[in-house]
Amino acid sequence: MTDTTSNKMWGGRFAAGPDAIMEAINASIAFDKRLAAQDIAGSRAHAAMLAATGIISDRDAQAMREGLLTVLSEIEAGDFTFSTALEDIHMNVEARLKEIVGEPAGRLHTGRSRNDQVATDFRLWVRDQLDAAEGALVALMRALVAQAEAGADWVMPGFTHLQTAQPVTWGHHMMAYVEMFGRDLSRVRDARARMNECPLGAAALAGTSFPIDREMTAQALGFDRPCANSLDAVSDRDFALEFLGAASICAMHLSRFAEELVIWSSAQFRFVALSDRFSTGSSIMPQKKNPDAAELIRAKVGRIFGANVALMMVMKGLPLAYSKDMQEDKEQVFDAADNLMLALAAMEGMVRDMEAQQGNLEAAAASGFSTATDLADWLVRVAGMPFREAHHVTGSLVARAEARGCDLPDLTLDEMQAVHGEITDAVYDVLGVRNSVASRMSYGGTAPAQVRAQVARWKERLG
Ligand code: ARG
Repeated sequence: MTDTTSNKMWGGRFAAGPDAIMEAINASIAFDKRLAAQDIAGSRAHAAMLAATGIISDRDAQAMREGLLTVLSEIEAGDFTFSTALEDIHMNVEARLKEIVGEPAGRLHTGRSRNDQVATDFRLWVRDQLDAAEGALVALMRALVAQAEAGADWVMPGFTHLQTAQPVTWGHHMMAYVEMFGRDLSRVRDARARMNECPLGAAALAGTSFPIDREMTAQALGFDRPCANSLDAVSDRDFALEFLGAASICAMHLSRFAEELVIWSSAQFRFVALSDRFSTGSSIMPQKKNPDAAELIRAKVGRIFGANVALMMVMKGLPLAYSKDMQEDKEQVFDAADNLMLALAAMEGMVRDMEAQQGNLEAAAASGFSTATDLADWLVRVAGMPFREAHHVTGSLVARAEARGCDLPDLTLDEMQAVHGEITDAVYDVLGVRNSVASRMSYGGTAPAQVRAQVARWKERLG
């Protein structure tokens, strides 16, 4: 036992203070101090409501509301001494308020509990993160759209199995990520709309006998409405899980793109040049320019998804309503949010700065028999062959080119006709990569005209 003084906030029935180890495992102030601004906003709304409903006097409410602003400015200025003995941000703020305004501070906790308090604070914090993620996603999407617009008709290889498949356009590849991040954006917006209900006033679990006005506090804090069930209000963290779920999927998208940038910036590919601002050097190999930002973005999905799994595990066995297990929600969400924001910002910077190497992209697009499908389609169209047969004939031509060590357009007409008599000179038109991409005019296809349509659509949506 390190302290014989019982806790001032809840120690009425305690003869002794907590063991040092108890204090260490119990306290959350080291991390939940990040909820200070939300905690104070919640308390200010609660105090105003207590006065408006006649539960406390206007004078007391006024003293509390002003005192709380003083506490906030002390915290923001770094002038606040956080106490582990006071466990968490809620009791740290209230204790300091008592020092500043005296007796009225003791009335602040009327008709509420730390259970609805923390649920409210945390919702407000997660809501801010959803808003920040929305802004960061829009910025990243704008950077991608700018890349797509500049290179709507730059040809590059499209891959399946990371083997050359068919030529595509740079703009088309960029816009694929705009679609992905666009869905991430809509997940973030959905989560925000669903979570925007206020737990404050649910009290410990059952509501309160004081005539509180939950609509008033909900509105003051920017919520759409109060949570409709007090047990649910204090005991679910699905809003945090939805944030982590959306963050995990977004991090997965970021990671795939990061992986492509790592490959594309290698000496073997040279599809893009990353800027010095988003690369690092090697302390031993003078020639190196490493895509560290992309690698770190690629790695972030691990910890973000880890947070998602960890919180799912914390929650899955808890009987209603509040259990202290739920204090473990915060660090995971804080860490995931910090890293998601960092990854989004780093990706935006890399995308803005990166320079596609148009010549290398086009040269790569023409290799690997990338227009073989165009040839097969031509045989269907012009010679009226069933696709399966056209596929087979084209395969033979690819084998012939491979044996000669050349590409498909390098085969002579004689060589082509030796494989199939109906092939004519006109075939060479479809073997060029530019013609190949231009022909893919189906909705959502890779033709530059389709890419420009995608760009126009997103520019309008993103404003
Ligand atoms: N620090 C606590 C948490 O983060 C606040 C709620 C405490 N409630 C309680 N009944 N002990 O969950």
